Amino acid sequence: MQPQHQPVPPHALFFDLAWGHFRARLVEVFATLGVADAIAAGLNPGVNERFLRTCATIGLVQRLEGGSYALTPVGNLLRSDIPGSMRPAALAILSPNCGHYKAWENLAYSAQTEGNAFIKTYGHDIWEYYTRTNPAEGENFNKTMQGMSVGFIGAILDLYQLPASGLVVDIAGGVGTMICAFLKKQPGLRGIVMDLEFTRPGAEAYIAGEGLQDRCAFRAGDFFQSVPTGGDLYTMKWILHDWNDEQSARILQSIHRAMPAHAKLALVEAVVPDDDSIANNARMMDMNMMVMCGGKERSEAEWRELLGSNGFQLERIIPTPTPNFVIEALKK
Ligand SMILES: C[S@@+](CC[C@H](N)C(=O)[O-])C[C@H]1O[C@@H](n2cnc3c(N)ncnc32)[C@H](O)[C@@H]1O
Repeated sequence: MQPQHQPVPPHALFFDLAWGHFRARLVEVFATLGVADAIAAGLNPGVNERFLRTCATIGLVQRLEGGSYALTPVGNLLRSDIPGSMRPAALAILSPNCGHYKAWENLAYSAQTEGNAFIKTYGHDIWEYYTRTNPAEGENFNKTMQGMSVGFIGAILDLYQLPASGLVVDIAGGVGTMICAFLKKQPGLRGIVMDLEFTRPGAEAYIAGEGLQDRCAFRAGDFFQSVPTGGDLYTMKWILHDWNDEQSARILQSIHRAMPAHAKLALVEAVVPDDDSIANNARMMDMNMMVMCGGKERSEAEWRELLGSNGFQLERIIPTPTPNFVIEALKK
């Protein structure tokens, strides 16, 4: 007899929501204690069986016959020694003493006022926190971005046609993960990655590690003031969602001033669909942007309006199988 489909009772749904917090705690402790590294090395993971069995229920590990544990593909991302590691992300987002966690404790403030809970918590913005008051977390944040970029860049490279030659300027490109991937794909391209001074050591090391120091340079700068001139392609990944419309307008105007008439602008961002389904991840990131930076995720109409009112014409939006879209614009 086929089991009859039963709707999940609301009380069970409620507990599933509340246990989202417990799941996140498990992920954080798994990452902090280096459980993935230990399992990968065949060492004692240093946590008890009950903890590991629960980690199996959330998909971090799989219990093997004989009672040992293997990492699942997601659990494997919490190793510290792999390209695209999400261990820095787990620590940056979930550690109880980190800026992210503390700012989210003030979610109610953002929910009521749409204000920046990070500033409410610390009295200054997240970039001052990472660059001045807590540089160790800043360094880990750069590693977080690097790990996330490694995870998502393949889909962008597959779907976005890069020019064969010329200069790519990646504005606020972090340590240069995306631009290095671009330059490796297209040997005729040169690159500049621009970001705040605190990313210089990580960026110069990353570019040199990729063997691209002859084709790619780091430039320190503030995109509210100016960005490098003379590029053929300007890119920005996960930047404008950090900022409100007025701040984003100032960044776009800096780019507009620097960009030659023929150049293209390619943003890598979410495009929020107009639905409220559970699969609409962009809405959760929208909350994160509101809490952490006072920024927001935008719909297609909002991107068109933001670009259009700052001298750009939105040309096309290319979806990828990840939460990212490539939004291409030209100067009007
Ligand atoms: C969310 S991260 C994205 C980094 C990178 N594009 C990536 O996708 O990995 C935002 C970046 O903006 C940079 N940033 C913040 N304020 C800036 C400013 N005023 N001028 C230039 N870069 C800035 C940060 O240092 C950080 O690297």
